[in-house]
Amino acid sequence: MNKNQYLIAANWKQNGDLKSSIKLINNIVKLYKKAKPKTDVLILPPSIYLGAVLNRLIHHKIPRKKISLGIQDISPFSNGAYTGELSIDMARDYKCSYALIGHSERRHTFLENDKTIFKKTKLSLQSNMSTILCVGETIHEYNKNLTKKVISRQLKSALLKSMNLIKPNHSKLIIAYEPVWAIGSGKSASLKDIVDVHNYIRTTLNKILGLKKNNIKILYGGSVNDINAPSILSLPNVNGALIGGASLNSKKFIDICSSI
Ligand code: 13P
Repeated sequence: MNKNQYLIAANWKQNGDLKSSIKLINNIVKLYKKAKPKTDVLILPPSIYLGAVLNRLIHHKIPRKKISLGIQDISPFSNGAYTGELSIDMARDYKCSYALIGHSERRHTFLENDKTIFKKTKLSLQSNMSTILCVGETIHEYNKNLTKKVISRQLKSALLKSMNLIKPNHSKLIIAYEPVWAIGSGKSASLKDIVDVHNYIRTTLNKILGLKKNNIKILYGGSVNDINAPSILSLPNVNGALIGGASLNSKKFIDICSSI
């Protein structure tokens, strides 16, 4: 995969307010214009600020192909009486072309199970959204050598029954490997572990799809910063990164985008 096909995604999570979100996107755009990174760039702001962030991108004349927008989570239902939830169509109104699904904070803090994540993944793929499915093991599972078992279960439960949606267009599916213990800890997984797990994800996807090879992007996430990004992004089967903390700093984020 060449550099142009790498994806660097900023997951702002539940951080900041309207004023700081506008300031952050303005600064990201300013640095983006200077650095001209070759990678695809994706911003996942808190949903309530999607409109404000979109307005700034329009104001700065940044096409959605250069800096895309995505939603951090979606409802497992297309519409109806589901208080507090947001649908794919609502995200589309704000020009979102990506949906993040099954993030570890959704799985572990909000207790989303494999069934819910399957429904969300299916709905997102059906709606032709670029769908980022997050997988990853807890520290307990890592210590017990269960990483591959957990990842296999998470991939199969989310994808097996949606093969008819994935097969015609692989590029709409993206996998993000985020070891739960590496998220926000300041300590990313070792390069060896990242290579090992990404290879395993690639092979498992081939098995699920019944293919010899596939071009599904596999992102790494978990304490990626401007210092470790160059070595992580140069690993085989690493096609981009999902950034939390460091994406709240415009300089660090654009440095990461420019590091390959
Ligand atoms: P950190 O980069 O803060 O570790 O967060 C990673 C993450 O969860 C991105 O989705």
